[in-house]
This record gives sequence, structure tokens and C-alpha cells, in this order.
Amino acid sequence: MCGIVGYIGRQEAYPILIKGLHRLEYRGYDSAGVALVNPDNVLNVYKTRGKVEDLERFCDTKDVSGTVGIAHTRWATHGEPNDINAHPHFSTNGKIAIVHNGTIENYNVLKQALIEHDCEFRSETDTEVVVKLIEYIQSTNDCSLVDAVRGALKQVVGAYAIAVVDCEDPDMIIAARKSSPLVVGIGDHETFIGSDASPIIDYTNQVVYLGDDEIAIIRRDAPLQVINNDNIPAKIDVQTLELSVSQLEKGGYPHFMLKEIFEQPNTIYDCIRGRIVNNDTEIKLSGVIDHPDRFINASRVVIVACGTSWHAGLIGGRLIENYTRIPARVEYASEFRYANPVITSSDVVIAISQSGETADTLAAIKLAKERGAFVYGVCNVVGSSIARETDSGTYIHVGPEIGVASTKAFTGQVTVLTMLALAIGQLRGTVNKSQLLEAIANIKKLPELIRETLKLNDRIEKLSRTFTYAHNFLYLGRGYNYPSALEGALKLKEISYIHAEGYPAAEMKHGPIALIDKELPTVVIAPNDDLHEKVISNIQQVKARGGSVIAIVTKGDTEIPKIADYVLEIPPVAESVSPVVVSVPLQLLAYHIAIMKGCDVDMPRNLAKSVTVE
Ligand code: M6R
Repeated sequence: MCGIVGYIGRQEAYPILIKGLHRLEYRGYDSAGVALVNPDNVLNVYKTRGKVEDLERFCDTKDVSGTVGIAHTRWATHGEPNDINAHPHFSTNGKIAIVHNGTIENYNVLKQALIEHDCEFRSETDTEVVVKLIEYIQSTNDCSLVDAVRGALKQVVGAYAIAVVDCEDPDMIIAARKSSPLVVGIGDHETFIGSDASPIIDYTNQVVYLGDDEIAIIRRDAPLQVINNDNIPAKIDVQTLELSVSQLEKGGYPHFMLKEIFEQPNTIYDCIRGRIVNNDTEIKLSGVIDHPDRFINASRVVIVACGTSWHAGLIGGRLIENYTRIPARVEYASEFRYANPVITSSDVVIAISQSGETADTLAAIKLAKERGAFVYGVCNVVGSSIARETDSGTYIHVGPEIGVASTKAFTGQVTVLTMLALAIGQLRGTVNKSQLLEAIANIKKLPELIRETLKLNDRIEKLSRTFTYAHNFLYLGRGYNYPSALEGALKLKEISYIHAEGYPAAEMKHGPIALIDKELPTVVIAPNDDLHEKVISNIQQVKARGGSVIAIVTKGDTEIPKIADYVLEIPPVAESVSPVVVSVPLQLLAYHIAIMKGCDVDMPRNLAKSVTVE
């Protein structure tokens, strides 16, 4: 989704802004632009549809001088992706420029009012309304830019992160946010702005995460000032980033997605580290330990999330019911927020989000809090909006995930949810000692099991060639691996654009079986578990109708290789943690099929990494 970068300091802004835009590309975008105030105090705005490289080519012959500027990658919401709708947008007098991430819900009302005051609009965007409103307030009230921005934001309904420059005040950038993320990086005589820390980390690890309704006044060679919309100074909490530049680079892999798949033995290790204690006899999650009563007395757990995180939530819900005996339900955040759900103060709501910025999940959290629930976050991005909005939580600590298709975050989420279920079970006394020890041992084996499973890469690459023709895929799984089937299907469709459906294997006969023919490959997740025999019957049903089957089985399985067309063997793994291991061949299969089809796996069409609008 849209990305914002800003710079003010002593260096030339343009190269910093362009590098920052490249860092933000992973978020997904369709156009890019930059606004710079040059040494003669002239505002230069350049923008174009396409990639950041297109913008760079466009700027090749232009004046890109200046030590203050803002830049943007746009993911279209209001108005098609084209040069005019690209950001930055600028005032009628050409002096003020703005970049924006979010959605201004009342933009049409504001636009009509401004049109009545003879204001003209160039673009179809909601963003242009904000800069024209700032200009209108400034000219009619003869006020400072800060007051004009404050005045405009008071009239705006919706979500925004904005950055504003004015060539009449070239020593200042104003940045503000409400429900869309914005980070300010504090360097030595220079200040940076980013939608996340990735454009900032090359220069400084000292950052301030702006809070909702806060406005940062960033002056050249002056301390950062933060106020709220009522002009009251806000507390500035400078934090140190635990992020390294190497984490944002491909490190020799052709794609971030492949790098992230291969990182999983280490990311799962990091995710577990420090959380299994006392000689592997206890799970320790500070987010649970700090609030024991909320978990001991919980009458229900409600999990809210979107996309892959929702799939992790489905597994988490089962684990929680299994280990804690607390009823758990799992909701799409986008449905939950508008469903008028029954939520009480004895509920624990668990919000799962890699980015920690997903608008629907954030809205679900706010609703749950209003209704008195205790809200627990499972996030990856440290300091993200969801991490800050929740009452407590656990980071998955898998490092930055740049590929749009979530891989290592999914396995990290499932691992954390397993530990969370056990930690609550310990507290409530619903898991006995031997169950706990066995579960802990199973979790600890995961990094090694993933390492072993990654050896399937070459075989899956070869196998993938066979399936680039397919227009549809079916994924089947049971129990904990029914969500794995959903996740496998999502991975394939989002990066290869092949339609895929995930189903509980036994549900196939209630409808999807009608789809089966020799054109439809079926991926069956069939490790050795309690339902193994049943899954074998499901495979027989597919084969009896001429379908081809790719089966993910436990090494040593003698039954399924006799009937499936292709077999991918994973090492023996306990049922409750099997989705973590099973997801590896599913990720690799999607990756290689997409690559064979020539798709851009890291930045698939139309998708955004962090979905900060509804
Ligand atoms: O950052 P979040 O985990 O909240 O994101 C939720 C979904 O947008 C995300 O999982 C999406 O489905 C991914 N593209 C899946 O690979």
C-alpha cells in the first residue's frame, strides 16, 4: 500500500528519497513521485505511473536539487493509476506539496465546498482535496502552515499519514497521522520520515512512531516537535530500531520470497528463543504472565485477522481450544468490525497481523476494546500500530518480511500461537506436565525439521514445470492442516494468478468433487496423523475421477506413494505443529510455479504488503 518518504537535512534529498522509495516498493504500488524544494526555493514535483525506475528515468533531465523533499509510492484507491493521480499533489499556487497514505472518507463533501470557492482540481484523488484545503485555510485565515494543516485535519474524516512541504518555508516538513503508520527518524542534523522504518534504517536507528492525531513539526537543525490536533505538545518517545540493512536485502537469493522461505529454520528459532525456559519445562510469554487473570478467567477467545494471518488464526483457535478448553472462534477482521459482535469484558480478543498495520484488524481491535475485551496482539513489526493498540502481546520476531506473499510470518505466527495456547493452558492447569513436555519438545524440533524439509526445493522446482499449464488447483487437508490447505491455495493464487481453492478434505464430496478431472491438480496434505486413513480415502476419490494428486506425506509412508501421482516427503512431525513444516513445500510449490510462469513473485499485481485501507 502507499509508501511515504521524507528528508530534511544537509544532504541532497533526491537520492535519499529514491532509495527510500525502493525500500518501500515491497508494499505494492502503481505510481511514484517526488517533491523537492530547490535552493532557489522553488517547488519541483515529478511523478509518473509505473515503477520507481520509471520515475528515476523521468527525473534524469530535471532539476532534482534541494535538501528537503517528500516522496511517495501510490497504490490506487481513488482514481486510476496514472501520472495525474500519482502523488505528490500540490496547491493551486504550486507552493505546497503533500503525500498521503490512507483514505479521506469525506473528500467529496470537502471537494464540493472548495469548488464553490472557485478551487479547481486536477486529479480524481482524495489527497488533492487535503492540500487544496490547507491552501484555502492558509490564504483565508492568513495563518501559518502548521495551523492550516491542523485546521484541515480537523475537517478530514478517515485515515491518513501525510507529509507536507511548502517552498515558502523550506526549512520545515510537517507530518501527521491517524490510523496509517508514520515513523520519524532522527539523525545528526537531519530528519527522515517513512511509512515504516525501512527507508530510514540506512541512516539512523533512532525513531519516533507518531501516534494517532499527532502532528510532527520537523524543522531543519531543530529538535523534533510533536503536537496534537489541538496544538497541545505530545510526548516524544525516541526508540532504538532493532533492524539491520542486511535484513532488507536479498542476500544472494533471486527473490525475497525465496530468501524468506529459506530463513525459516532461523526465524522459528528466533521466535522460540527465550520463551521456552526452565530446562525446557515451561513456556514463558511475558504478555501472558503480566495479565494472568485475564486468561484464567477468560470465558471465550475471539481471534481476528486477515489473509494469511487469518489462516494462522484458524490453527491457533484449534490449539487454544485443545490446550486451554476455552471456546475459541476465528473471525475475518473485516467481517467482525461490522457484525455488531457480542463481545464482553471476559473475552480475550487475539489480533494477528504481520505488518501490524492492517486497517480492518486495527478497526476490529478498537471495537473489541470499546466493548471491554482484553486484546492481545501477535505481530511481527515492532512498534506497529497494532502492537501499540493492543493491551498486551507477543512479537513473532521473524525479521522484516518483504515478499508480498507471507511465508516466514505465517510459520512464526503458528509457532507463537502454539506457545500462547500452551502458556494459557499452563496457567489454567488444562495441560498436564507430560503433555506440556511433549509439546515443548515438538516445538523445539521445528527449526531442524524445516531445514530438512527445505531439501525438497530442487524436487519441487522440477515438479512445478508440470503444472504451469493448470488454470485451477484444489488443496485438501484435515484437522490442523485444513487451514494449511487454505494457506497453500492462497500462496498459489496470489503469486501465480492460478485460481486455487482450499477445502477440508472430507468436504470435497459435498461439492468440489464435481470439478475433478485430469486438468485439475489436487494437492493433498497427508502427514501421518489421526486422520491419515481418512485422507487416503479422499485421495482415492480424486484418483477414481481421473484427477492428479500431489501428496505431502510423512517420510516412510508406504500407502500414499502407491496411489498419488507425485509425493513430497516431509520428516515425521507431531500433528499439532505439522502446519509449520507442511507449509514449506506449499510455499516452494507456489514460488516455483509462479517463477515458471514468469510472474513477479515479490510484487504480485494488485497486491499490497500492508493493507492500510479498507
Ligand atoms: O499484515 P497482516 O498480517 O495483517 O496482513 C494480512 C493480509 O493482508 C496478508 O496476510 C495477505 O493475505 C498476504 N498477502 C498473504 O500472503
